[in-house]
Formats: sequence, structure tokens, C-alpha cells
Amino acid sequence: MKSEKIYTWIGSLTPFYDYISALVGYKKSVHFFVSQLPFSKDASFKVLDAGCGTGVYSLAILEQYKNSSVTAFDFSEKMLQGFEDKVSKKYADRLRLFTANIQSPLHEIEYKKFDLILTGGVLEYVPHEALLHENQQTHSKHPRAQALGCFLFHSHVT
Ligand SMILES: C[S@@+](CC[C@H](N)C(=O)[O-])C[C@H]1O[C@@H](n2cnc3c(N)ncnc32)[C@H](O)[C@@H]1O
Repeated sequence: MKSEKIYTWIGSLTPFYDYISALVGYKKSVHFFVSQLPFSKDASFKVLDAGCGTGVYSLAILEQYKNSSVTAFDFSEKMLQGFEDKVSKKYADRLRLFTANIQSPLHEIEYKKFDLILTGGVLEYVPHEALLHENQQTHSKHPRAQALGCFLFHSHVT
């Protein structure tokens, strides 16, 4: 079964997903990792959360860094809906969500720059060859692409 189908299914159970995340300590560990980011608590910085799911990482950042702003996407509309339902309008001025596949061109953020790009539990679903290919294409298509500040990659695969 493809990961898109799995997450479409899991997306219909987002409160359950969040409950399990909290139960197994994932949410707590994410809050700890986020507290270790090399930004001061009042810093103004831009984050891209690729494969945000129900927003565990995005929300930890928005809560801990009051001047941060987060752009987040996921290919599962249901996971995104679960995220939106949770935050309602609370972070409307600092949060932007959209649906997209990490393996496709991300037109919504073309030429945008971020201080931190993070993926939590996502890249294990993306074939390595696809990542390398995409990376090469991105650089050749967008020569203005520049080195980014930080990259946080949290994976369950060792
Ligand atoms: C294990 S969940 C992690 C969600 C969130 N990052 C977190 O830390 O709680 C993996 C997420 O990656 C998304 N995902 C998997 N492959 C993706 C892809 N190719 N493009 C965009 N999202 C993807 C799934 O829909 C799911 O929401």
C-alpha cells in the first residue's frame, strides 16, 4: 500500500494519531528538539515544515517562538484538515498551510527562503533516488537557490 493511501486513511483518525503521538512520547520529544533550535525565543524566523501531518512540529515552533512563522504542507488533505481543525484561527497570522507532494515541484513556495526546513517522519517514505533527482532539478531550475540556515531531519529509520 502506498504511503499516500495509508495517510489518507490515518488522516480520518487524526485525533487518534495525536493521542498516540502524545502517549508514546513523540510530542514531548518534538517539544524538546524544538527547544534546542539555534534561535532565541524572541527571534523572528521562517520555517518550512515538509510533510507536517497534524502539525506536531509546526505547533511546537509556533508555541515556543512567538515571532516565528511557519509554512507547512502535506500530501494528505485529511492530515492537513486535522491540523487546521486543531488550530482554527489561533495562528492565522503566522501559519500557512497547503497540500503538496514533497516529490513534486513546490510552486507555492517558489523562490521563498526559509531559515529552517524540517521534516519529521517523512523522508523514509521518499525513495532516495527521488530525493537526489529532485535536489539536482531544483538547483538547475532555480540557480538563485542558496544555502539555507538549518535543516532538521527527524526519522524513525536508522
Ligand atoms: C509519520 S507522519 C509525520 C507527521 C509530522 N511531520 C509529525 O512529525 O508528526 C508522516 C507524514 O508525511 C506525509 N507524507 C508522506 N509522504 C509524503 C510526500 N511525498 N509528500 C508530502 N507529505 C508526505 C504523510 O501524509 C504524513 O502526514
